[in-house]
Amino acid sequence: MLTVLEHPLLATHLTALRDRATSPAAFRGHLDAMGRLMAYPVLAGLAVRPVWVETPLAPARGAVLADEPVLVPILRAGLGLLDAFCAAAPGASVSHLGLYRDVVAGQPVAYFENFPPAWATRPVVVLDPMLATGGSLAAALAKLDQWGARNVVVAAVLAAPAGIQRIEREYPAARVFVAAVDDRLNERDFIVPGLGDAGDRQYGTP
Ligand code: PRP
Repeated sequence: MLTVLEHPLLATHLTALRDRATSPAAFRGHLDAMGRLMAYPVLAGLAVRPVWVETPLAPARGAVLADEPVLVPILRAGLGLLDAFCAAAPGASVSHLGLYRDVVAGQPVAYFENFPPAWATRPVVVLDPMLATGGSLAAALAKLDQWGARNVVVAAVLAAPAGIQRIEREYPAARVFVAAVDDRLNERDFIVPGLGDAGDRQYGTP
């Protein structure tokens, strides 16, 4: 299920990300700001259990998370959303997943993964600013399925219709949050108009 988040600040930060004149440092700042805005709706489905606390005046009913989330940033670009989600959910654990798109084969290649089996029962949040063909996200969701994770949400920033359609076809239960859906992919599978390569732009890679 796709949710397109609408917020004036998401729109203005995304505009800065799109601007080719935005420096890597500024790009990281705007992406972090979008992550902070997106974290709240993306994490809104976390289950809580009731607790009692003593205020200075009286007992009060409260809540704690039933399970702390596991954040899965897809390297490299997903790192740009990680601090924001860690700030929103300070008890979260982090499972890095290294994937890159092989430009010749057009397929995602996994080069790092670290998901302890004990984390499979916890809610998982996949972080990746770009959903282009959907190949990387499909690979990530396949791995999470294989690792036994059953409660998975995805925070992306920008998506293309082709990627959304692929994920809806292959993973109809996946809950995906984005800030915008662009027109199309170009012949190199880049989102158009898009913002370029989110990893390269964060890190100044030529
Ligand atoms: C980009 C992006 C996504 C993926 C999206 O990563 O961050 O992970 O491509 O494309 P897809 O939907 O067609 O799979 P990239 O492979 O460029 O690696 P990087 O994050 O290290 O730059």
